[in-house]
Amino acid sequence: MASSSRPGLVLLGGILLMNAPSAGMTQQLPSADEPIESRVASLLDRMTLEEKIGQMIQVNFPGEIGPDLRAAIEAGGLGSLLNVVDARTANEIQAIVTEGSRLGIPLLLGRDVIHGFRTVLPIPLGQAASFNPELVERGARVAALEAAAAGVNWTFAPMIDVSRDPRWGRIAESFGEDPWLTSRLAVAMVNGFQGGDLAAAGTIAATAKHFAGYGASEAGRDYNTTNIPENELRNVYLPPFKAAVNAGVVSLMASFSDIDGVPASGNRFLMQDILRGEWGFDGLVVSDWVSIEQLIDHGFAADLREAAFKAADAGINMEMVSRAYADHLADLLRDGEISLARIDELVAGILRAKFRLGLFENPYTDPSELPEIANPEHLAVAREAALQSLVLLRNERGALPLDVDDLGSIAVIGPMADDPYEQLGTWVFDGDPSLSRTPLQAIRDMVGDRVRIRYERGLETTRSRNTEGFVAALQAVAEADAVIAFLGEESILSGEAHSRADIDLPGSQVELLHALSEAGKPVIAVILAGRPLTVQNILDQVDALIFAWHPGTMGGPAIADALFGVESPSGKLPVTFPKVVGQIPIYYAHKNTGKPATPETYVHLDDLPVRAVQSAHGMTSHHLDAGYTPLFPFGFGLSYAHFSFADMELSAAVIGMEDTLTVEAVLTNNSDIAADEVVQLYVRDLVGDVTRPVRELRGVQRLRLDARESRTVTFELDAADLAFYGQDMTLITEPGQFHVWIGGSSDTDLRAEFTLVGD
Ligand code: BGC
Repeated sequence: MASSSRPGLVLLGGILLMNAPSAGMTQQLPSADEPIESRVASLLDRMTLEEKIGQMIQVNFPGEIGPDLRAAIEAGGLGSLLNVVDARTANEIQAIVTEGSRLGIPLLLGRDVIHGFRTVLPIPLGQAASFNPELVERGARVAALEAAAAGVNWTFAPMIDVSRDPRWGRIAESFGEDPWLTSRLAVAMVNGFQGGDLAAAGTIAATAKHFAGYGASEAGRDYNTTNIPENELRNVYLPPFKAAVNAGVVSLMASFSDIDGVPASGNRFLMQDILRGEWGFDGLVVSDWVSIEQLIDHGFAADLREAAFKAADAGINMEMVSRAYADHLADLLRDGEISLARIDELVAGILRAKFRLGLFENPYTDPSELPEIANPEHLAVAREAALQSLVLLRNERGALPLDVDDLGSIAVIGPMADDPYEQLGTWVFDGDPSLSRTPLQAIRDMVGDRVRIRYERGLETTRSRNTEGFVAALQAVAEADAVIAFLGEESILSGEAHSRADIDLPGSQVELLHALSEAGKPVIAVILAGRPLTVQNILDQVDALIFAWHPGTMGGPAIADALFGVESPSGKLPVTFPKVVGQIPIYYAHKNTGKPATPETYVHLDDLPVRAVQSAHGMTSHHLDAGYTPLFPFGFGLSYAHFSFADMELSAAVIGMEDTLTVEAVLTNNSDIAADEVVQLYVRDLVGDVTRPVRELRGVQRLRLDARESRTVTFELDAADLAFYGQDMTLITEPGQFHVWIGGSSDTDLRAEFTLVGD
């Protein structure tokens, strides 16, 4: 480390740290007591054009601090690096910039810390299944502490693209299909990463991404075009971003996609009119990886210079990896195409982020100040998150939980039973598979020598079509009292650029399951996957089915706890499960249409009489071969307990715009075990200035009820909860009639009605 001879550097715990900033530096930098705005202004005053443009450039860390990188940092030619992930290197880089560059402006060190760092939490879609913002916040806190200890001060998370297409690989990174739930979890994750004080050790800046509409990629094919009418954009795709901005998120990332022909990285309407204009955001928008250069591929810019112009004009503060800003902003300014005021504005957004993070006071990381990586507390949070993410989709004749005393032997089968890497899911650059506790290990730990376990993979991978392993698997089953099959998708089958057109279990897994079930033993399937799968083709073959997503480091113990009834599964689907891929997009908050389908008007094509007249079975909105309902609705998830809801009551039948309506129902646990239930409240605005969804989630409470306990659950609703964007694209709450439901899933039928009257 060449810089270790610099004055002011000390080694602490083997990590290079700085002493107090040198006298020269403190004189140059505005005082920490000044408000951030005046510090930003006075710093901007001292910056050369090159230094300003430097702040707008983010490059990928090449793996070592070579002479070029060092020279660029010393020249003030970089605002940020991504993918530096050890504290020693991070501190060396911060030392080079703060000591060696003219103005000593520290760097943002960005990394995709998406669902944990070394300790891996369930994929965000799995975390969403907990419907538990408090737990999601704690998970992000764990991730922030571990990432901060590696010198990371900025994460590119949370990903809050509303995702209604399970073909899209990136649905794994999302919180699912619902804008309201995504908004709550977005705020939770931002708070978890950023904490109460961004300058405190162990907090990192969050990024709300991808702004906006990326989840609507046509056909679920990644990077594809999105066409989102403005009203849908405002009512469905933007609310989570607005919530994150209101929660103080430091940055946003532009989406790769285009909306209505305008790619996000050059989209003034999104970046300027909405984000800055309507929402008052004054922080930092970073492009996505090379997304400014990709304006050329989109056919939106002729060359890199025009791409730089369009991105800067739209309001992208920092360019990730490509060189449009580096190579062309100065020319654009010289030629009068971009103003200095514009550049100053963009740089100010970056400097604000750095001031908020307290980097000017202390850009260094001292891991000894932070909790140990993957400590028991972190692992406990990961385990709790994995447990609450498990969704029980089927449980015939009480197949689960398994009773150790009833079983002499169990066959554990499948490619996902004992794979420490694959259970981690997508985006786990820093995840440590050696920390993973697999389901097989956890089952062995759980049953000890009371039950004999025979394990066979059956298939080498989830994609494998080589069925040679079936023989051994079936032998294991023949000797067993029950079968637990761990199936699903390997990590690489979801995530960025990993979309699928067919979302059945891949490879020969369906055949494997059919073969296992023929043995006539109870079959429990546990699916580990990055997206909803079309599992209709295996449902009849299994007695019980747990959907476990990619559950992360502690997936094994969480799954074992659920299988053996230490705890009931309590997750709920954050996204609708279709019967067949052709139903996509299918989501609970759909519009009613002018011809809504009903049980009376739907007949499967196999049952249609020959030469039936066209209108014999009504003319309603459905598929002849799949109906109009999903396989499992949003919010659905069974429990080992038996919950029921009754006695719904409203505090008033008529409320005014200023009133708060109280909605209550009684939840009863009719079983002999204690368990969590996720109570959900939905509303419907019957008539609107624009058509309104048939149901919209507006309340969630995760409650633990003792055996046989009854409890009154209370929600409050006010006019803001009923607001939506109307035809003129402003937020309105209209007087009129509303329905409200309470239950354990979006298809609950416990309903009440009220009327909202105008002032
Ligand atoms: C992804 C972003 C990610 C970035 C940096 C891109 O390919 O779309 O979500 O943050 O890479 O790794």
